[in-house]
Amino acid sequence: MTNLIQPIRGMNDILPDATPRWQYLEAVTRTVLAAYGYREIRVPILEKTELFARSIGEVTDIVEKEMYSFEDRNGDSLTLRPEATAGMVRAGLSNGLLYNQVQRWWSAGPMFRHERPQKGRYRQFHQIDVEAYGLPGPDIDAELIVMLARLWKRLGIRQVELRINTLGSPEARASYRDKLAAFLRGHARQLDEDSCRRLDSNPLRVLDSKHPETRKLVEQAPNLLDHLDDGSREHFAALQVLLDNAGVSYVVNPRLVRGLDYYSRTVFEWVTTRLGAQDAVCSGGRYDGLVAQLGGKPMPAIGFAMGVERLVALMEEEGVPVPDTAPHAYLVRVGALAERAGLQLAEQLRETLPQLRLIMDCSGGGFANQLKRADKSGARVALVLGEDEAKIRQVGFKLLRNTTEQVNVPWDTAAARLAPWLE
Ligand code: HAM
Repeated sequence: MTNLIQPIRGMNDILPDATPRWQYLEAVTRTVLAAYGYREIRVPILEKTELFARSIGEVTDIVEKEMYSFEDRNGDSLTLRPEATAGMVRAGLSNGLLYNQVQRWWSAGPMFRHERPQKGRYRQFHQIDVEAYGLPGPDIDAELIVMLARLWKRLGIRQVELRINTLGSPEARASYRDKLAAFLRGHARQLDEDSCRRLDSNPLRVLDSKHPETRKLVEQAPNLLDHLDDGSREHFAALQVLLDNAGVSYVVNPRLVRGLDYYSRTVFEWVTTRLGAQDAVCSGGRYDGLVAQLGGKPMPAIGFAMGVERLVALMEEEGVPVPDTAPHAYLVRVGALAERAGLQLAEQLRETLPQLRLIMDCSGGGFANQLKRADKSGARVALVLGEDEAKIRQVGFKLLRNTTEQVNVPWDTAAARLAPWLE
């Protein structure tokens, strides 16, 4: 076994023991999204590299150093999507669905970033991404956030905190950017290496540096909230009133700037203290300029993406119970006649009880061995079919989680007997 092919670093197999939690998260999320009118869109995992460079921004970490890009056989540069927003806008424009229309869409699937893998940070990870197009007012910002608060409640997640900020209009941000860069340049010796590099290319990112010295300096830096345009200030104030009215608590964090360039006005992040350094479980914001930037008619837009791995880990940390996926029943068959009849009986039961999870033992062996496997499967009931029962179309009904005796019942009453054991 020395020739085993290794998995790619930072890319995980989600094993069958883990998938019930993923499925539960996905199912609850789908129900909540439908309750707010969001419809699913599925877009390709591969896009032209240019799409991400033009939307996420040339001088962001993602585009500069994290994309999985390659040339295909035609010599076109393609990229495995590092996020979903750009592809969804591209799909909206390609299909003529972002012209004077309101759209509420969601999409889910794997994203790819060549980051340094650690707990909660992977090279292939999964997002559930939600976007609303054509709505300029703070009410949709508030509704998206309220929807997330409802989702956390439905999922049983309690330990998350909401942080919000506004980045202002592109013009206000550009003038703030110059002021900030001038201030930071004056104190360049206190900056860490990464922040020095960003000083010219993307000084706003210095604001969310994790480096202690840089953070101290940032405390004294000019505050973006003091340099806002009136429109953005009013929008942000209105959002806060709506959140207050809805009873959603939040912290205004003027240093929340986000790592993608397309944002303007509202940005937000849900963070938790339960997962270590990779603490953001859901992030997003408004990107009113992106549709036009990608060639469409100007159209406001806002959205967010949840990190599925991180939410699943948080649910586990918080002890959120997972719905039971063990089989309800396990069919034991011993003897040639019972083996043939068992297949028929199993199908009859599945036909009558569409919710039934029934495993038919196909590994052979005697009653004792098969019953051992029945027990291990987690099933509540063993259905036992020997030659004698098969001949008279009966089946043994044996509860596996207590010590009651096996009773033989006719096939046509077996479904009714099983029904109470399906939750
Ligand atoms: P983002 O902040 O880059 O935003 O990612 C959103 C979420 O994806 C993060 O909060 C985190 O939970 C998860 N995430 C990001 N990178 C990783 C990783 N390497 N491993 C595991 N989880 C990760 C966006 O992607 C924007 N497109 C969100 C958005 C949608 N804004 C507007 N619409």
